[in-house]
Amino acid sequence: MRRLGLIGFSGSGKSSLLAFALKSGFKTVDTDSLIEKQSPEAFKLLENGMEDDFRTLETSVISDVLKSDFDFAACGGGVHFAHPAWKEIYKSSLKLVYLRSSFENLAGRFEERPLCRRLGLEGYKRLFRSRCPLYEKAATFVVDTDGRGLSEIWSEVFEIWNSLFH
Ligand code: S3P
Repeated sequence: MRRLGLIGFSGSGKSSLLAFALKSGFKTVDTDSLIEKQSPEAFKLLENGMEDDFRTLETSVISDVLKSDFDFAACGGGVHFAHPAWKEIYKSSLKLVYLRSSFENLAGRFEERPLCRRLGLEGYKRLFRSRCPLYEKAATFVVDTDGRGLSEIWSEVFEIWNSLFH
């Protein structure tokens, strides 16, 4: 199937790149938007320490998305090698592009995210560090984002698409 998933920490540009994909005529899907549509209170679960319940909801949305028709999917920041949906993602043969950023580069973009509010900045930084190798393990492609504008990053993602599907 001709489709790619975008993964990476909060603020790495997954949803913004999806807007580029949409403008270029691709079919796009954003798992966070679908979760919110299905359960408007879902993100509160994270703030309240009920992460397992959130991941269950997220897994069910990802499972539906994998059965749907799209070209580019933006996944929530929790999607990586250790996510409960990982086996299903792997089996679906969806290729993942990891938008790799330094923690410093993301500053200013994640502070309002529910997990950051719950864990505090130091805890969130630890989470970031623990996830970096898991994104790398899950991804087929890695695109570095530090010091680069969105259109440059989109060009690289688009090149990946072309190298795979054209
Ligand atoms: C999460 C990241 C968020 C969203 C949820 C959980 C995470 O997505 O899925 O708040 O576990 O890091 P973004 O990466 O779009 O912020």
